[in-house]
Amino acid sequence: MIVLGIETSCDETGVGLYCSERGLLADGLYSQVEIHARYGGVIPELASRDHVRKTLPLIREVLADAGLSLGDLDGIAYTAGPGLVGALLVGASIGRSLAAGLDIPALGVHHMEGHLLAPLLEGGGLEFPFLALLVSGGHSQLVRADGIGRYEMLGESLDDAAGEAFDKVAKMLGLPYPGGPHLARLAENGDPERFDFPRPMTNRPGLDFSFSGLKTYVRTVMAELRESEGEPGEQTRADIARAFEEAMVDTLTIKCKRAIRQTGLESLVIAGGVSANQRLRKVLENQLGADSVYYAAPRYCTDNGAMIAYAGCRRLLAGEREGLEIQVRPRWPLESLGAI
Ligand code: KG4
Ligand code: ZN
Repeated sequence: MIVLGIETSCDETGVGLYCSERGLLADGLYSQVEIHARYGGVIPELASRDHVRKTLPLIREVLADAGLSLGDLDGIAYTAGPGLVGALLVGASIGRSLAAGLDIPALGVHHMEGHLLAPLLEGGGLEFPFLALLVSGGHSQLVRADGIGRYEMLGESLDDAAGEAFDKVAKMLGLPYPGGPHLARLAENGDPERFDFPRPMTNRPGLDFSFSGLKTYVRTVMAELRESEGEPGEQTRADIARAFEEAMVDTLTIKCKRAIRQTGLESLVIAGGVSANQRLRKVLENQLGADSVYYAAPRYCTDNGAMIAYAGCRRLLAGEREGLEIQVRPRWPLESLGAI
């Protein structure tokens, strides 16, 4: 079965082609970073309009890359939520309508299920059950996954998502949007001994996260530095970036280890944009053993169409189909998904 996947939930237009026999055939991405960077964050209306411009040309491009035409498709999957309602509607309208025109099944996919399954995209021996740390711009969740659609939420962020905290702190440090990868680069030159930032909610039981206090802590440190030594220079900003990244990675690692102890699960999947972070990967691998930690290639950690094609293919193969109406769910709990 060959499935076209369409991702338009936020600020990237992603298209992927996944074949149940041959694996990933092709995929492409249009990033809207340049459009939103000057505003320091995503402007929903501009995101929707750019998805309108880019989705169909990108579908043509990805089909051409794979040497296929629309007639070769057996199904179409699109992100139906969670995300920005206007942006979601673009992908859903195109996907649902195209499938109706081609008389093939269509399916709305949960964006976070796409992320969660991304490490399976390119094989690699991962099997259910596993623990998943989903860390993106909109979510920080610890999930027990017993199968596709069999998810139990073990913990989540009470305020800012991990990626959101990276982006906000990066902004304080004067880095461009989206700040996560920029902050990680700056942190490489930082002195890990200079600052010691708190590891929020690690000294009490439970698997929930809270990152807004850490963000405020950084703001306070910067304000104090401004007062005592003037505007922080390049080295000081790098030192702050390093301390923040270490605090984030440490906090996530402590919670993952705790969840592993509680559940007895042996494999950990990290997925979502923040799973592209090299320090997070390295520390988790050091602490849990390299064989226990699974993640996708960096381009499939951040938003992409390939993961939607893959998740859609698994569900379409199991017989799931959407009706003819175009439906999106900007808020959509992962645990409410049906098992296949
Ligand atoms: O999954 P994603 O592409 O979009 C959402 O579904 O939100 O995640 C984007 C988030 C952004 O906050 C971005 O700053 C963060 O992932 N991110 C990173 C890195 N690469 C992307 N954060 C830390 N280190 C990175 N290398
Ligand atoms: Zn995402």
